[in-house]
Amino acid sequence: MTKGLILSGGWGTRLRPLTCTIPKTLIPIVNRPVMERQILKLKEAGVKEIILAVSVMSDIVKNYFKDGEKLGIKIYYTNEKFPAGTAGALKLAESYLSDENFFMLNGDVIFNFDFRKMLEFHERKGGIGTIASKLVNDPSRYGVLITDDLSNKVLKFLEKEEYVPPKEGPKPMPINAGVYLLEPEILSYIEPNKKVSIEREVFPKVAREKDLFHYPIEGVWKDIGKPEELLNGNILLLKELIKNKATSEKNLISDSVQIDPTVTIISPCAIGEKVIIGKNCTIGPNAIIGDNVYIEDNVKISNCIVYNESYISQNANIDTAIIADNCLIEEGVTLKGNGENLIILASYVSVRKNIKLIATDKSSITFCHHELIKDDIF
Ligand code: GDD
Ligand code: MG
Repeated sequence: MTKGLILSGGWGTRLRPLTCTIPKTLIPIVNRPVMERQILKLKEAGVKEIILAVSVMSDIVKNYFKDGEKLGIKIYYTNEKFPAGTAGALKLAESYLSDENFFMLNGDVIFNFDFRKMLEFHERKGGIGTIASKLVNDPSRYGVLITDDLSNKVLKFLEKEEYVPPKEGPKPMPINAGVYLLEPEILSYIEPNKKVSIEREVFPKVAREKDLFHYPIEGVWKDIGKPEELLNGNILLLKELIKNKATSEKNLISDSVQIDPTVTIISPCAIGEKVIIGKNCTIGPNAIIGDNVYIEDNVKISNCIVYNESYISQNANIDTAIIADNCLIEEGVTLKGNGENLIILASYVSVRKNIKLIATDKSSITFCHHELIKDDIF
């Protein structure tokens, strides 16, 4: 049975300060860590064993997933003494992966396609590897695939700055979606005990020497590398999960919530376990609220992620923001982002009574964990 390897080792610098206290791969996407969603998708496709290639904050990842028993899947970990790069991390798992093909995933991407169809495609094509690809309008911040339309072969793999867009401006291109199906032979292209990048050193060579294919995926796909992508990715997946539900319910609301009858919920919203929402609140659209969040009366929340255990006091007005776990928002606070410029509060931030944080169109407003906000910004 095909196994899976998931990379969980980057620093997630563009998501700081959210990634100062948890690794990027544990960031919640519609109330479940992005990597947990990937593991469950692999399990759905019949994968029974997964190797997590951990590096940065590996203790937190190991403590969360342990041996995988809770998710009903066997989880192993590699022992990476220094960040070994995307291929170096794979090489460390060689002993687990040397007998049959395996999935390999970047642990920071959201998607909702069926792995079984990708496996069928890979086995039909019979190449050394298959890269899931996504057509995007601006490919500049991804690995770009130059492909043959008829055969689906990858002719060239160009990582980020190696791709030069046409003079007329960017045009839609298939990019590397960070999900691969690989034959063990790929391991012979990676030098051991060295930092090696699969995107820069392995795929370009393999595309020249072997049959490497791409498998175009449809539907939701997002790399959560930047805060606005994290917020948009949550909203996209939320809509997709609601669309695919068996019932006609337009929100994802846990049974254990206590919501006052005067509350207006504008879909789509997700509300986690044991959330309490007071009188006359307006929640949504696009509000994703974690477990054990307490929301007092007359609060408005839209276009926003609130992680677990945060407390939002009365008359707060929150839009276009990410609020991490254990934050305290006192009464009358206004948090208002502006398009791609968000209000971002890391874990344990407290915002004093009646404070206003209003983003301009120039930059996000960001606070590190444990900060106490006493002054307005607008
Ligand atoms: N174990 C381990 N060790 N994992 C690593 C290391 C490492 O040294 N370096 C990076 N990773 C993991 C990250 O945690 C992430 O899950 C994945 O590898 C990709 O790294 P990113 O830093 O997120 O790369 P990117 O988003 O700039 O680009 C990659 O993803 C794009 C799609 O989202 C590339 O693969 C691009 O080609 C691709 O288009
Ligand atoms: Mg990434």
